[in-house]
Amino acid sequence: MNWREFWDGEHAIYVNARHKTLHYERIARDIVALLPKGGVALDHGAGEALSADAVAAACSRLYLYDAAPSVQQKLAARFSDDARIGVLDDAGLAGLADESLDAVVVNSLLQYLTREEFVALLDFWRGKLKPGGKLILGDVIPPDVGPLDDVKALMTFALQGGFLFAAAAGLARTFFSDYRKLRAENPLTTYAGEAMARLLDAHGFSGAREARNIGHNQARMTFLARRR
Ligand SMILES: C[S@@+](CC[C@H](N)C(=O)[O-])C[C@H]1O[C@@H](n2cnc3c(N)ncnc32)[C@H](O)[C@@H]1O
Repeated sequence: MNWREFWDGEHAIYVNARHKTLHYERIARDIVALLPKGGVALDHGAGEALSADAVAAACSRLYLYDAAPSVQQKLAARFSDDARIGVLDDAGLAGLADESLDAVVVNSLLQYLTREEFVALLDFWRGKLKPGGKLILGDVIPPDVGPLDDVKALMTFALQGGFLFAAAAGLARTFFSDYRKLRAENPLTTYAGEAMARLLDAHGFSGAREARNIGHNQARMTFLARRR
């Protein structure tokens, strides 16, 4: 199994419904704080985007794209009646007009891509963004941060969110599940801050690390860049 198959299938990344709801509410709040108000935005690798309506309220139009066909179906079912939200399939993503976007949000995706896939996407996003448009890269994992840091961050989030016992049970399940094997066989891609700054610069973006990461895990990083 690879990461693409993992995300397309049934998985237990969220320990229960409350965890999933609180996760999407939290990232929506953080994303809205970084978005230019009233613009056209793309959330690339959106997942189920349970709180996309809150993000869309800050945009004139919000496009959601996820590579997993099962996730695309869930997004389409959830948001087909929301006039501000457009759910894209692969053709819809490719067909976005050049220089039409004010912002691209990419949260918790880069670790599942190879460096080459990320670099190709940087050029893709550069083409779709207006000059001066914002690229927001969230939940990027630095090389010195590992699974134990993720466990600590999840337990803190669970304590605050009132799902501590479910989180402990979920971690125990994960320990005995295929996820550990998958993570060992398909190591997550990590980026040092300086390496990310160099990559952004080489692909036509000026950017820097934000003081806070999007979401609950502050051991990970968010970068804010602008298309030059
Ligand atoms: C960890 S989830 C992140 C979801 C959401 N952005 C969030 O922060 O909760 C990663 C998502 O990226 C999607 N994905 C994986 N590879 C992708 C790719 N190459 N392009 C777009 N989406 C991809 C997966 O299907 C999955 O839904």
